[in-house]
Amino acid sequence: MTDKTLAITGPTSGIGRAATERLAEYFDVIILLARNTQKAEAFKADLIRRHNHLIVDIVECDLSSLVSVETAADYVQLNHDKIDCLINNAGVVSLTRQQTEDDFEMMMGTNYIGHYLLTHHLIKLVMNSREKQIVIVGSNAYAFTTLKKDYFTGKGNPMHLYGRSKLATLYFMQELHEQFSKDGLYVTAVHPGAVSTNLGKTARNQKIGNIIYGALSPFFVSPDEGAESTIMAVREKETWDGKYMHNGEEIIPKAHGQSYYIRKQLIRNTMAELNLDTFMNV
Ligand SMILES: NC(=O)c1ccc[n+]([C@@H]2O[C@H](COP(=O)([O-])OP(=O)(O)OC[C@H]3O[C@@H](n4cnc5c(N)ncnc54)[C@H](OP(=O)(O)O)[C@@H]3O)[C@@H](O)[C@H]2O)c1
Repeated sequence: MTDKTLAITGPTSGIGRAATERLAEYFDVIILLARNTQKAEAFKADLIRRHNHLIVDIVECDLSSLVSVETAADYVQLNHDKIDCLINNAGVVSLTRQQTEDDFEMMMGTNYIGHYLLTHHLIKLVMNSREKQIVIVGSNAYAFTTLKKDYFTGKGNPMHLYGRSKLATLYFMQELHEQFSKDGLYVTAVHPGAVSTNLGKTARNQKIGNIIYGALSPFFVSPDEGAESTIMAVREKETWDGKYMHNGEEIIPKAHGQSYYIRKQLIRNTMAELNLDTFMNV
């Protein structure tokens, strides 16, 4: 077991693509968990052209679909015996109200619930590796809001809904740390900064999204710069273990982002929604 395996969601664009390109030299096997396999095929060809030592496996995984996540996880479990580093990077911003096929609010369903289920299925492979690492791409948008009732399905201001999904991923990192660090897991959440990517630029969001992006784009950094926090987290896992970080600086979450009671309630509710009776003890 000498080779190193990276698995990453959302590797086909923006921060995930930039991070994968830069991490390719440190890994031998890369599992691209992508909803768009055509984009992933083009990226795979590009990666292999530049790093001929690499084995790249494309796995179709739409995080907004529980069936798709389970099918992807089954494939990975059957075809790989370990994952040294899992990066939960994919994310969606929806400025119009959308639901997943399982009736979750789209951002919560994709950014948090899809990743929770994926991690539930893949954690055994992570724990079977030498590095035992999970990196979660969060966002300071967590600070916009708290988790009130109906947070899996509820309506509201899109930025609050996005913030809720990212607050949930922050709690998820804390819970993973609390429950698995004794078994050797390293887990970090990162904020990439304001990055010029495709985030929020979907056909449905186009009008309002273009206005917002147009106004803010001078303040955005490149995907390469946005990937910096993810790279640091992967490369310096001991330093950033159990922490939320941006560009090498720890971010201490606001009080609501450290709520033990709300975190435990979220994890209990998530496990109930997903009918899981193992994984996390709460
Ligand atoms: N950009 C920022 O300023 C910023 C700030 C804070 C946090 N973040 C976070 O950074 C992460 C990466 O976002 P980005 O800015 O790089 O955006 P991006 O360019 O839109 O990339 C998002 C990635 O997620 C994938 N994705 C979206 N929905 C998915 C789904 N249902 N199932 C599977 N994959 C899906 C996309 O796939 P396709 O290629 O098929 O679209 C793409 O690969 C996200 O978690 C985001 O919340 C970004």
